[in-house]
Amino acid sequence: MGDFYLARALHVLGVVLWIGGVAFVTLVLLPALRRGVAADERVAMFDRIEGAFANQARVTTLVTGLSGLWLIHRLNAWSRFGDPHFWWMHAMVAVWLLFTLMLFVFEPWFLHRWFHARAARDAEGTFALIVRLHRVLLTVSVVTVLGAAAGSHGWHF
Ligand code: HEM
Repeated sequence: MGDFYLARALHVLGVVLWIGGVAFVTLVLLPALRRGVAADERVAMFDRIEGAFANQARVTTLVTGLSGLWLIHRLNAWSRFGDPHFWWMHAMVAVWLLFTLMLFVFEPWFLHRWFHARAARDAEGTFALIVRLHRVLLTVSVVTVLGAAAGSHGWHF
């Protein structure tokens, strides 16, 4: 029994640290860099600061994903994926997959180099692209948190 509650607690902690970090980067760090740092230094500085968060995000996506899988198993909830009322279950997996691909596959594989090469050519445009990307990720994450928190406590959309 305890394992179920522990999984839920770890799931929520993982989401708080991970999505909270995305919110901080999007709403605080990026605007501060835009205001306070010259365009041609922004991407490099962002890279240095967010690099530390990327490590935290790798651990928290793992914790969130593993605890989430355990919750599905213990709730015997696989059939929810066939029911559109549980769109927030699909959303959780989609958000998780998106971040996992970004953090573990695309970023180390080619995205990092691509952003630096692009920043050398067009510093302003590359920073604007980073801002847009973070806004989209944060929006999708926030909708997912709202849907999952309300849906898992009984709100039938
Ligand atoms: C592979 C990825 C994931 C899986 C398998 C998963 C699975 C689950 C399951 C089974 C529950 C319990 C639902 C219930 O009690 O009826 C849950 C709760 C929840 N999940 Fe996820 N999840 C995943 C990723 C995420 C992500 C990325 C987010 C945030 C963006 C998220 C946010 C939440 C929230 C807010 C709750 C409600 C917690 C509560 O109020 O008790 N999950 N998740």
